[in-house]
Amino acid sequence: KRPIIIDTDPGIDDAIAIAIATASDALDVKLITTVAGNVSLSKVTNNALKLLALFKKEIPVAKGAKQPLLRAPVDASEVHGETGMDGYDFPKQADHLLMKEDAVTAMYQLLSKAEEPLTIVAIGPLTNIALLLRTHPEVSSKIAEIVLMGGALGRGNKGVLAEFNIVVDPEAARVVFESGLPIVMAPLDVGLKALVYANDSEEIRQMNATGEMIYHILQRYRNVQAVNGSAMYDACAIAYLLVPEIYQTVDAYVAIETQGEYTAGATVVDLAGIMGKTPNAKVCVDIDSTLFKKWLMESLRKC
Ligand code: BDR
Ligand code: CA
Repeated sequence: KRPIIIDTDPGIDDAIAIAIATASDALDVKLITTVAGNVSLSKVTNNALKLLALFKKEIPVAKGAKQPLLRAPVDASEVHGETGMDGYDFPKQADHLLMKEDAVTAMYQLLSKAEEPLTIVAIGPLTNIALLLRTHPEVSSKIAEIVLMGGALGRGNKGVLAEFNIVVDPEAARVVFESGLPIVMAPLDVGLKALVYANDSEEIRQMNATGEMIYHILQRYRNVQAVNGSAMYDACAIAYLLVPEIYQTVDAYVAIETQGEYTAGATVVDLAGIMGKTPNAKVCVDIDSTLFKKWLMESLRKC
C-alpha cells in the first residue's frame, strides 16, 4: 500500500477524491490536512470530519492554514455552496479524529518518523505544503512525490489564466514548484475532461451510502466551466496515483506568476522548453475521458 497524506479543502470534488482514496486497497491514507480554500478553514475541517464519520474511517485530521501566506483569503463558495458540501445530511462529525497538532506539525511528525517516503496529494491551495517545506526542509527526503491538482495549461477558472488552487496562494505555489521535489501536476484542463453527467450521478446514487451522499452534493455543484457535466478535478490527482496510464504527461518547467498585472496565479507551463530551464514537474497534458469514467465508477462502487 502506498502511504499518502491528503492536503485538502473539501469541497465537493475533494469529497469524491477522499472517498476514493480512503476506500482504495492500493493507498494508505495516513493523514488528512485541511487548508482554507473552497470555504473557510473551520468549514473545510468540519467537512473532512463529516466525511470520515460517513466513511467510518479512522484517519487523523490536522487543521492547517486559515489564510494564504501573503494574501487575503478568497473562497469558492459560489461553486461549492455555503458549507462547501451542501445538500446532504451528514452523520455527526468524527471530532475525535481532529489532532491537537496543526497540519504542518502533524505532517512533520509523520514524515520524520516514516520508514518509507510518503506521497503528498495536494488538492487545495498549497499554503500548508509551502509552510512545511519552509519550516522543516529536512523532511524533503521523506516526500516521495507531490501530486497536485492545480494550475492550467490554457484558460483559468478563477482568473482569466489562473486556476483556483494556485491563484488563492501563488506565493505558496511558487515555493512548492521551486522546491526541487518531484511534482506531478493535474491541471484544470484534464479536470474539465474528467466529467460526471446527470445519468452517471444517478448511477452513483444507487451504489452505496457514499454514492447517495455524492449524488446529493453534486446537485449543488456550480462548476460553470463544465456546462454539461461536473468536473472531478481533485479525483484526477487520485487517478494519477492509481491509473497513471490514462494520462499523457510531459516533463516541463512550470513557473508561477505572482506579479502579473492581470495574470497573478497563472501557471506558465513551458511545454516547448522555451525558457531553457530544467523541468520541475510532470504535467498531465491529456486524459482518456472514457477510461477515467470507468475508473471513477469502479472506484466509487468499492466505497
Ligand atoms: C480546484 O479548486 C477547487 O474549487 C476544487 O476543489 C479543485 O481543487 C479546481 O480549480
Ligand atoms: Ca479542492
